[in-house]
Amino acid sequence: MRIILVGFGTVGQSFVKLLSELQQTLQAEYGINPRVVAAADRGGVAVNVKGLNLERLLEVKKAEGTVAAYPEGGQRKTSIVRMIEETPAEVLVEVTPTNIEDGEPGMSHIMAALRSGKHVVTANKGPMALAFQALMELAEYNGVVLRFSGCVGGGTPVIDFAGKCLLGDKITSIRGILNGTTNYILTRMAEEGLSFEQALEEAQKAGYAEADPSMDVDGWDSACKLVILANWVLKRKVRLENVKVEGIRGVTVEDVEEASARGERIKLIAYADEEELKVSPETVPVGHPLCVSGVLNAVCFTSKYAGEETVIGKGAGGMETASAILRDLINIKRFEASIG
Ligand code: HSE
Repeated sequence: MRIILVGFGTVGQSFVKLLSELQQTLQAEYGINPRVVAAADRGGVAVNVKGLNLERLLEVKKAEGTVAAYPEGGQRKTSIVRMIEETPAEVLVEVTPTNIEDGEPGMSHIMAALRSGKHVVTANKGPMALAFQALMELAEYNGVVLRFSGCVGGGTPVIDFAGKCLLGDKITSIRGILNGTTNYILTRMAEEGLSFEQALEEAQKAGYAEADPSMDVDGWDSACKLVILANWVLKRKVRLENVKVEGIRGVTVEDVEEASARGERIKLIAYADEEELKVSPETVPVGHPLCVSGVLNAVCFTSKYAGEETVIGKGAGGMETASAILRDLINIKRFEASIG
């Protein structure tokens, strides 16, 4: 399986480390021999149709700050879109940072790959939250697969649970904590009495927060994930602009203490059903399945016949998200095998 990797930050580098570590298992257990034939970051690209040396790619990135310094096939100032179109490969893994204004540069990368007949695996929430339906239709039109498990829940299989484990049932609503940073902040405020600013600083140091933390604290990261779930799980045709969003900047230490005195915690809750779509701070009783601590995410699906099920797991992190990307690649391999 020839892979083009675009985006070489925490998630991209973790993905490469995971591929190196699991090379033999992937071959033996899943029949996959992944070869990264191109990698790109802000500084440029590295291309080798026989496969890049992954150790060397990581070393070059660490030493020089960009994959463009890769000794053979490294190039600065080149068009990533053209590289995606012209490099022979089966899959694009797109992990550039989320941008919710226009989804770029991820949007153009994903569209170029789909149009040139390549499957896409992405953990980039921007394009999916802004143009979910259009991108899925483009994938279908070109006979390829677009997968996005890493967009929601880090490595926790939230999307796969809803899509596969509840087959035949009808999910009627989704309620959950979809952002690790805000849950970490609210937990530290409740359990250690930290101020919002102190807790945010801790979350940034731990690497949970988005590059722009307003994505987390103002609720937009949760809203992106909710839109993806609403489209995929509830089959709604919605976009980011349809979500009512309120973040946690207005939550004070006093609010948190008052909730604690009542045996409750304040959580940033994302909710979707057939009509509503909203993100806002709400109280949850201590002991409720959604009342998880720290960077954990928890998503409760209500289905017509099976009732309520809650999936809990770490919702952020490079290796965790890389594991979701790998899961998507294995599913693509199975898809290819099924169509012969
Ligand atoms: N900043 C996000 C979070 C990362 O805290 O959940 C995963 O999308």
